[in-house]
Amino acid sequence: MAFNNLDEFIQFLKKKRELKVIDTEVDPNLEITEIVDRVVKSGGPALLFTNVKGSDIPLAINLFGTKQRMAWALGVENLDEIGERLSEMFNVKVPESILGKIAMMPKLMEIAKFPPKVVKKAPCQEVVIGSKDIDLYKLPITTSWPKDGGQYILFGQVVTKDPDTGLRNMGLYRLQVLDKNTTAMHWQRHKGGAAHFRKAKEKGMKRLEVAVVVGSDPATMYSTSAPLPESIEEYLFSGFLRKEPVELVKCKTVDLEVPAESEIVLEGYVDTEEELRLEGPFGDHTGFYSLADYYPAFHATAITMRKKPVFVSTVVGQPIMEDDWMGFATERIFLPLAKLVLPELIDYHMPFEGIFHNLVFASIDKQYPGHAFKVMNGLWGLGQMMFAKVIVVVDKDVNVQNTSEAWWYALNNIDPQRDVIFTKGPADVLDHSSQHFSFGTKMGIDGTRKWQDEGFTRPWPDKIVMSDEIKKLVDSKWKSYGF
Ligand SMILES: Cc1cc2nc3c(=O)[nH]c(=O)nc-3n(C[C@H](O)[C@H](O)[C@H](O)COP(=O)(O)O)c2cc1C
Repeated sequence: MAFNNLDEFIQFLKKKRELKVIDTEVDPNLEITEIVDRVVKSGGPALLFTNVKGSDIPLAINLFGTKQRMAWALGVENLDEIGERLSEMFNVKVPESILGKIAMMPKLMEIAKFPPKVVKKAPCQEVVIGSKDIDLYKLPITTSWPKDGGQYILFGQVVTKDPDTGLRNMGLYRLQVLDKNTTAMHWQRHKGGAAHFRKAKEKGMKRLEVAVVVGSDPATMYSTSAPLPESIEEYLFSGFLRKEPVELVKCKTVDLEVPAESEIVLEGYVDTEEELRLEGPFGDHTGFYSLADYYPAFHATAITMRKKPVFVSTVVGQPIMEDDWMGFATERIFLPLAKLVLPELIDYHMPFEGIFHNLVFASIDKQYPGHAFKVMNGLWGLGQMMFAKVIVVVDKDVNVQNTSEAWWYALNNIDPQRDVIFTKGPADVLDHSSQHFSFGTKMGIDGTRKWQDEGFTRPWPDKIVMSDEIKKLVDSKWKSYGF
């Protein structure tokens, strides 16, 4: 089931008793964070604050804060269903019969079946606020942590257009409020928005137009965070997830399109010639404060919104937080795509304590000497996997979703000097420990069983497994033992 807008998802969560409406007045300065932190860490519901101090607009938060809600948001019960749809699509074994070939066509076309549709009238433009009347302080924008540099819009879906190709990018980047119509634009250097900004600057364009959507249908909200290749627009991917096109509307003051069913849209621009602004510090999803650094300013020229909009935010910090479930969705959805390039990959897993870029377990069907190193290098070459600080490769029979099992297996199997490699590459901007800003060392651990032709000449021990005969015997006598 696809949700057309945020309200449909909120009503769905209400029916499922997965939404708590809080009418007590709450302070957007720190108080909301403390509430959300307690709720998300105990697997609690999504929250709708109707009485946020200083604003008339309600605030929805922790919408995707469990595995189940994340799956529902994307119209499935289980996130693996989406991966399976993608797998089927890419399983391009050409059938023998003509009928089989014809039947295959719709599958191949599936990703392109739901391109966004532009409509003329949109709920997100029911109210239009001109540049003179913009006051971001009227929105329920939170300050998350005590040492944060200020208030941040944390679920801003930032839309830009590639100055060369016209392809749209939508990325989830935080925006620190600098004054009533200006924010910092925290697109990190490896991300789509930053690439558009660099291109615009190189081409001598004074302005890069930007739209910031706050709250849309949940599949589009998730897609904004997904590590899609540049050539696949988030709107197309969201259409695929929804099995229905996303309806878009032209912005009022910039040449960009936003989801017609959005809640609030900030229209504006970044000026490529303007001095960068100090952004941060910010209590980040690493669980530490990201240091302040310089980013472009975003100038809002108009705000459009529904008559009764809902503002959306999140809280990031030490795991487990809502963004961990968004990252988990990405892990599951993108596995089949990684397998296209690395067919030996059985599964991978990024445990929450590794905050995605710090630790990746991968299980492989090892076929030749050094295979584990080939897979590590392959992973480091895949989009945002370039940020992976530590990759641990194990054999195919290891369940990498169980990190205790994966560590147990790998640590037993390694001789550190022989099986650990160090290499270099781009580091996540948020990695405060890397040798240089956004550039550092990576570690690969080959935790697979070692082979003779890898130079291991001693016999390799078998894993301990009880015989089926004894298991059956104990099963049949279990009650007689008196347990
Ligand atoms: C809650 C949340 C906040 C995020 N904040 C930022 C941010 O401030 N800057 C950034 O570059 N990426 C941020 N990200 C990660 C990007 O959204 C993500 O890498 C996305 O794939 C970027 O898309 P792009 O490659 O189209 O730019 C955030 C992700 C989440 C889930």
